[in-house]
Amino acid sequence: MSIRPVKRIIEAQPTVEGAGVKLRRAFGFGDTDETDPFLLFDDFRNERPADYLAGFPWHPHRGIETITYVLSGTVAHGDSLGNAGTLGAGDVQWMTAGRGILHQEMPQGDPEGRMHGFQLWANLPSSLKMTAPRYQDVSSPNIPEVVDDDGTRVRVVCGSFWGKRGPVDGIAADPSYLDVWVPPGRRRTFPVDTHRSAFAYVFEGSGVFRDASPPLGVLTETSEPIETVAREQTGNRSLVLFDSGDEVTVRAGDAGIRFLLVSGKPIEEPVAWYGPIVMNTQEELRRAIAELRAGTFIQPG
Ligand code: CO
Repeated sequence: MSIRPVKRIIEAQPTVEGAGVKLRRAFGFGDTDETDPFLLFDDFRNERPADYLAGFPWHPHRGIETITYVLSGTVAHGDSLGNAGTLGAGDVQWMTAGRGILHQEMPQGDPEGRMHGFQLWANLPSSLKMTAPRYQDVSSPNIPEVVDDDGTRVRVVCGSFWGKRGPVDGIAADPSYLDVWVPPGRRRTFPVDTHRSAFAYVFEGSGVFRDASPPLGVLTETSEPIETVAREQTGNRSLVLFDSGDEVTVRAGDAGIRFLLVSGKPIEEPVAWYGPIVMNTQEELRRAIAELRAGTFIQPG
């Protein structure tokens, strides 16, 4: 087994989206090579209703999937095809936009005013960019959770982990999407398929993600290599981008650590990106925009 070195740690940056929602973006609208098949990751945890209630009114998507994971509050969703619903705490919506939807996403805080959650965008390969739109709405109780003896807890949204399979299926990039909690002071290792892009996004506590496999014989359960102990803690709103290898290791800090661990198979195709529409060529983008103007963007049936 080889530990994936940490390639880079990225602090999510404040930005404004939708009709004026203040959120933090870890990556998006930049070079996609390092995160392929993932395009964007937004952290919309927010405590001030005035900063999120305007929401994300009607907008189109084509050529991608959007994955929304709500921790607190609710997101009401409606689209041009007549789909509608509300996501609550612990729920996930995996939307395959395919050839196109127009939708709105309107956040509503919990009684304390908290609206917490994340949105990830995954790319679709050229063969599926114009596929029929599909929703997988998963309510919290249907997301399996595995708990280990030391209190380590993993919610399996997509992919397989410790013998459990997440409810989201049939996704092109064959992604794994896990919500992981490691108790204070524990060191844990998580397998990640060698051929995938992988990142962790820390949203509670802090910890140290190991930088590389130690020289043979150095690492035992009781001895920590000095470079690991000396490394800085990675905390809230940090995205850890991993290099290649087949596992990631983290040692939780004094307050434990909670993070999303996400991986997927790179698509390795050209990316032509215009806002919420992501295709392979400029010509496909032009067609999408012309269809939006002509009112033919949504293709039923
Ligand atoms: Co959207």
